[in-house]
Amino acid sequence: MIKFLPLRASRIALLPLLTLAACSSEPEAADLPYGTVQQMMANEVQPTTDIYWGAVRFESRLEPDGSVVEEEFEPRTDADWAKLVEAARKLQGFARDLQSEGYAKGRGDDWPVFANALEEVSKKAEQAALDQDPDAVFEVGGTVYNVCSACHQMYPPAQLEAATGDARST
Ligand code: HEC
Repeated sequence: MIKFLPLRASRIALLPLLTLAACSSEPEAADLPYGTVQQMMANEVQPTTDIYWGAVRFESRLEPDGSVVEEEFEPRTDADWAKLVEAARKLQGFARDLQSEGYAKGRGDDWPVFANALEEVSKKAEQAALDQDPDAVFEVGGTVYNVCSACHQMYPPAQLEAATGDARST
């Protein structure tokens, strides 16, 4: 019996190490339906949000004669509005996925709070699109931007400027 003790002791000592290693390993692909957070942001979240942000916008154009023309864009047809509703719903889905185990793993307690804020604001975005209310779409679009930025401030993307600064100025 005695001679097994060192072995058992070392196995016990090893266990916490193994558990730690398991915790810090990359989450399974199945937990990350859109790849890493970076991939999900670049390939899904940003393009979907761009659809919403681009729907109601103002553009100034310099005419050849030197005059400035202000142009306002907003959805016109039911199909246009339906695209916005769809984008807002997709964003809710991404926000829920961000709260999932796979994406929340290793992040702070504030992560699900930020992700949940995105889900809530996306619901408002959906409602504004269902109401076909351009002013509300524009306003809630601004709030969406603030929610994105809040999370990026705590979890800064490599190119923070490219991520959010440009998106709003177009
Ligand atoms: C819950 C936190 C969180 C929220 C909310 C969030 N992001 Fe991100 N985002 C991140 C993190 C973390 C990264 C950095 C990923 C990395 O570089 O590993 C990132 C990176 C990005 C990037 C850079 C991707 C690249 O190519 O490197 C873009 C673009 C982006 N987010 C767009 C958005 C938009 C638009 C929203 C709002 C609709 C948003 N994000 C909301 C956490 C968040």
